[in-house]
Amino acid sequence: MSPAGSPAALVRVFVGRSAALAADPAGLARTLDWMSEAERARFSRFRHDDDRHMFAMGRLMSRTIVARQLGLAPHAWVWREGPHGRPEIASPPTDVRFNLSHSGGTVVCALARGQEVGVDVESLDRRQPDPAIVARYCSAAEAADVLASGDDWFERFLTCWTLKEAYLKARGLGIGVALSDISFDLAGPQPRIGFSDSLAGTDARWAFHMWRPAPRQLAAVAVHTADGLRPTFAIEDFR
Ligand SMILES: CC(C)(COP(=O)(O)OP(=O)(O)OC[C@H]1O[C@@H](n2cnc3c(N)ncnc32)[C@H](O)[C@@H]1OP(=O)(O)O)[C@@H](O)C(=O)NCCC(=O)NCCS
Repeated sequence: MSPAGSPAALVRVFVGRSAALAADPAGLARTLDWMSEAERARFSRFRHDDDRHMFAMGRLMSRTIVARQLGLAPHAWVWREGPHGRPEIASPPTDVRFNLSHSGGTVVCALARGQEVGVDVESLDRRQPDPAIVARYCSAAEAADVLASGDDWFERFLTCWTLKEAYLKARGLGIGVALSDISFDLAGPQPRIGFSDSLAGTDARWAFHMWRPAPRQLAAVAVHTADGLRPTFAIEDFR
């Protein structure tokens, strides 16, 4: 409970596997029915089945999870994209916010009330980039931490990257942000965000939670905390 006696906010994050939808032709057909023409065209354009099924699973999960929260049928709310592509609820009017991410067959969808929320999932099983990427995307403090991690440098880097993606997606920002001016302090029990240079003075009242949806995957969820209180994060299987 907060000092004022109100319960902590709840952020729910649902985890699904696109393989489940790939193996369910009726479920896939239903999901396609809920899509707009533009979404169906996008679905058809994917060259790889895995990407197509992750996209569809993202739509199935988002439509279902938001609908349950609003007490509506999955197709009965209107999906729109914000200026940089952030998915939003155009109608009915609501303070429900959601975001989604997919990687390596895992799809995550985060749901919050009254606060912006962003989520990201990344796979560790990818070709390791050139370590020069660290100086480009990390703050000086993060870079020192990443480079001190030796053979584990890529996992440490990906931790910062996943947190930054979750934050940027919660804000609905595009790619113009100087990522090295965002810095995560990973020393405490929970990641803490800070800002410098071009982003100095940015509101840092954000809470983050990280977990592994699979042994070789990292996921992060970000939520704004106007009251400064840490919300409860609930990670649930999507059913
Ligand atoms: C567009 C972007 C959000 C996609 O991220 P990604 O890691 O390739 O893909 P994810 O699976 O995590 O997320 C994709 C989903 O995010 C949502 N999304 C797209 N643009 C978004 C935005 N600006 N804000 C929030 N969510 C967004 C969409 O629902 C999308 O799913 P869909 O394509 O199935 O509709 C990302 O590339 C981006 O622009 N990020 C912000 C800027 C940046 O430089 N990030 C690097 C951080 S280290």
